[in-house]
Amino acid sequence: MPLRSPGAARPLRDPVHHPLFARYYARASVAAETRLGMRAIRDRLLSGLSGRVIEIGAGNGLNFARYPRTVAEVVAIEPERRLRQLAVENALRADVPVDVVPGAAEALPVKSEAFDAVVVSLVLCSVRDVPRALAEIRRVLRPGGVVRFFEHGRGGGAAMHFTQRALDRTLWPPLSGGCHLARDPIAALREAGFELGPYRRLLMPETGPTLPTSYCVLGTAWRPERGGTAA
Ligand SMILES: C[S@@+](CC[C@H](N)C(=O)[O-])C[C@H]1O[C@@H](n2cnc3c(N)ncnc32)[C@H](O)[C@@H]1O
Repeated sequence: MPLRSPGAARPLRDPVHHPLFARYYARASVAAETRLGMRAIRDRLLSGLSGRVIEIGAGNGLNFARYPRTVAEVVAIEPERRLRQLAVENALRADVPVDVVPGAAEALPVKSEAFDAVVVSLVLCSVRDVPRALAEIRRVLRPGGVVRFFEHGRGGGAAMHFTQRALDRTLWPPLSGGCHLARDPIAALREAGFELGPYRRLLMPETGPTLPTSYCVLGTAWRPERGGTAA
């Protein structure tokens, strides 16, 4: 049953409501698994993870089948209703237990320091408030815990930067579920107090035309141990 605020006539809106984008992404993301090599990226993103993992903005749950069996449990946060329903279906097919939960990155509905790892893939481009989302990610991660990320962002030369910023100010966010092209996920992670582990920049697609969405980064960051460096 949809949530209602006391005395209100209409159901509360989801914090993220992009029904058209959700329909598009549900199809395009599945095609990208093989066509753009996303399946291999997801394998690299998740390899070697263990313990309790929280995935932020899980979408339709395409990461779920790629988690290694060393992962004890995944809590998958997804604010968009349609994508969340698809994520539940993919959770049922996963090899590891996955609990799909409504919520937004800026206010994660979980306890502090409860997770060994946080996974974000193609999400920091879309959250409303990047510093707040990263502060929440830091809060829920245990000291020494790891962030695995695959994100797209700012890249290319001056002409490409201009194009990315122009699209961000106009058509792109409303057409693509709130996505932005000119964000810098590496700088944002550093500013939020994470230590950057190994990361690699790559183009997506690797061959063919370079698009404003092509500049990707895949890697690892750590929440520093209390009073010291990451584990
Ligand atoms: C491009 S999709 C990526 C989905 C998935 N992570 C993947 O790898 O396929 C972006 C996702 O971020 C979610 N999202 C948007 N704003 C969010 C927020 N504030 N907090 C958490 N997730 C958000 C969207 O609902 C969508 O599922």
